[in-house]
Amino acid sequence: MGYNVAVDGPAGAGKSTIARLVAKEKGYIYVDTGAMYRGLAIHFLKKGIRPDDSQAAAAACRDAEVTIGYEEGVQQVYLNGENVTGMLRTEEVGNMASKTSGIPAVREKLLELQRSLAREKDVIMDGRDIGTNILPDADVKIYLTASVETRAKRRYDELREKGEDCDLEQIEKDIRERDERDMNRDIAPLKKADDAILVDSSEMTIPEVVAEICSHCR
Ligand code: DC
Repeated sequence: MGYNVAVDGPAGAGKSTIARLVAKEKGYIYVDTGAMYRGLAIHFLKKGIRPDDSQAAAAACRDAEVTIGYEEGVQQVYLNGENVTGMLRTEEVGNMASKTSGIPAVREKLLELQRSLAREKDVIMDGRDIGTNILPDADVKIYLTASVETRAKRRYDELREKGEDCDLEQIEKDIRERDERDMNRDIAPLKKADDAILVDSSEMTIPEVVAEICSHCR
């Protein structure tokens, strides 16, 4: 078994930025599980599947193979052999991933891939149910959060920096909706594990959050 650090929290809390930096500092492999749900979401979008049609999504899972690899230490997601990493981080794909991640067949499809990575390597893995469901025996569990306003502003700045046209109010609305879905679905909802350390990054800088998390890790 590798050394396992689980990081869960709501959309836009900075999980991937922070986990990537902790991975670098500690020599762990960073596993972004949201990217796997996004990879499957691309498959559903390509096939024109409606996110509320769980039967069609479950059937479509059968002809989707999601795998991951690393290029210069950066996680790549392959959908049926095609590298889809560059297509993952749009609002359309994120919303599809959030809507379809409550479907049991979708979660089952990705569960073993996530567990097998943690068995083999020292990892910091981020997502929604890592500490509660995927790696209940993780060595360290972090619940990373921030206020809705802070998360919306961060996502807005990130999109603007990429030159994308966006609206702060709309992003805030999307984040509230995504929180609602991620926290209230029947299967593996987002919640803090009892033994997770709560880190609220609303008033913290990135280096402060990284230092706080590293202080709990081997
Ligand atoms: O972290 P992210 O925004 O890339 O994740 C996209 C969606 O995938 C998120 O809204 C919910 C889902 N997800 C999940 O249900 N479980 C995980 N472990 C990771 C992501």
